[in-house]
Amino acid sequence: MSLTHLSCTACGLRHEWSILQNLCTACQKPLFAEYDLAAVSRTFTRESLATRERSLWRYREVLPLPPQVEPVSLGEGGTPLLRATCFGDQLRLSNLWIKDESLNPTQSFKARGMAVAVSMAKYLGATKLAVPTAGNAGGALAAYAARAGLEAHIFMPADTPRANVIECRELGAHVTLIDGLITECGAEIARRKAAEGWFDLSTLKEPYRVEGKKTLGYELAEQLDWELPGVIIYPTGGGTGLIGMWKAFEEMETLGWIGRKRPRMFSVQASGCAPIVRAFESGETSAAEFPNAHTRASGLRVPKAVGDFIMLRILRESKGGALTVDDEEMIRITRDVGAKEGLFVAPEGAACFAALRALVREGKISPEERVVIFNTGSGIKYLECYDT
Ligand SMILES: Cc1ncc(COP(=O)(O)O)c(C=O)c1O
Ligand SMILES: [Zn+2]
Repeated sequence: MSLTHLSCTACGLRHEWSILQNLCTACQKPLFAEYDLAAVSRTFTRESLATRERSLWRYREVLPLPPQVEPVSLGEGGTPLLRATCFGDQLRLSNLWIKDESLNPTQSFKARGMAVAVSMAKYLGATKLAVPTAGNAGGALAAYAARAGLEAHIFMPADTPRANVIECRELGAHVTLIDGLITECGAEIARRKAAEGWFDLSTLKEPYRVEGKKTLGYELAEQLDWELPGVIIYPTGGGTGLIGMWKAFEEMETLGWIGRKRPRMFSVQASGCAPIVRAFESGETSAAEFPNAHTRASGLRVPKAVGDFIMLRILRESKGGALTVDDEEMIRITRDVGAKEGLFVAPEGAACFAALRALVREGKISPEERVVIFNTGSGIKYLECYDT
C-alpha cells in the first residue's frame, strides 16, 4: 500500500490514515493523502496502464484503498474526451475538447469522489454517512452507500432540482430538505453528527473525495498522451475537481509521467454566487462568504468553501483566472452546445462554454491552444431550467 499518511494543507500536521479523519485536528483545514511515490514509480509506469480496466481504479497505486480490499464501485471514471469541432469553429478555436463527466454513474463527476470516499469510509468502519449537497453529490453518495450496505443521510436545500431529490430517495437514502443553502445543510450535520454516529463526507472535510476527483487529472493526461492542455475551464463550487486535478499533476510529475508545464486553470462561477471570483479579483488569499447566493446551476451555489485558499493559490500559480457567467446566458448556451456537439450539458458545464466565449473575446486564449472544458453533469437532472 503506497498511502503513507495524511497531511494538513495549511499547517502540514501529520495525521494517521488508518482511522476516520475529517479536518486537521489542529487548524481545521483540509487534509491531503500522501503516498510513497518514489516506491510506486518503480512499477507503476505509464506503460503499465495499457491492459487495465477502464475506470478510475486503473490508477489504484495512487488511490488510498489497500490493494487487497474490493472497492465500492459502479464503474466510475473512464469518461470520453470529445473533440468539440463545431463549437470551436464558431470561436475560431482549432483545438477544443470536452471531458464529458455526465457518463459517470448517477450522471455526474461526483461519482468519482464518492466511490473512493465511500470505499475508504466502509473500510475504516463507518456505518452511517452524511453529506450536505447541492444535489449531485447526494445522488452519488446515495448510490455508493446503497452499494456498500451503509446508511446515507443527505441534507439538501429545499429548492434543489427535483431529479436529485427523487434520485436520493429511490436509492434508499434518508433525505432531509433544509430551508436554506448548502452551508446551512452542513451546519445541521455538524450539530447532529456526534449524537447520530454519522461520518461527515462534506466536500474537503474528509480526505478521500478529492482523491477520487484527482483521477480527472490522470485521465486527462493519459487521454492526451501525457501532454496537458494549455487551458482548463472548470465550474467551481467546493472546488474538489480543481484541487484534485492540480494534486494529480504534481503527483504525475513526481512519478516522471509529465513535465513541469501546467495548464492555465480557469474557475467559472455564477454571477449570483461567486466567492472565488470576487476573492481572486481583489487579491485575497481566502474568500468571504458570498451573500444572498442564488443561481440555477445548483452545483455552483456554494457561498463558502473550506478549500478556498487552495483554489485561489492554484488559479494564481497556474496563471489562470476566475470569471462569472449569468444564469440566462448559461441556460441559453445549453442549446447551442447541444445542437452543435450532441451533448445535453448541465448548467454548470454550460457555464464553462459561456466563460470560454468571454475568454476568447478578451484575447486570453489563442486560436491553436488546446482547451479542455469540463462538463460535470447532465442537463437531464435540471429539467426545471428549460422550456418545454
Ligand atoms: C454538475 C456540477 N458541476 C460542478 C459542481 C461543483 O463542483 P466542485 O464542488 O468540485 O467545485 C457541482 C457540485 O455540486 C456539480 O453538481
Ligand atoms: Zn492544520
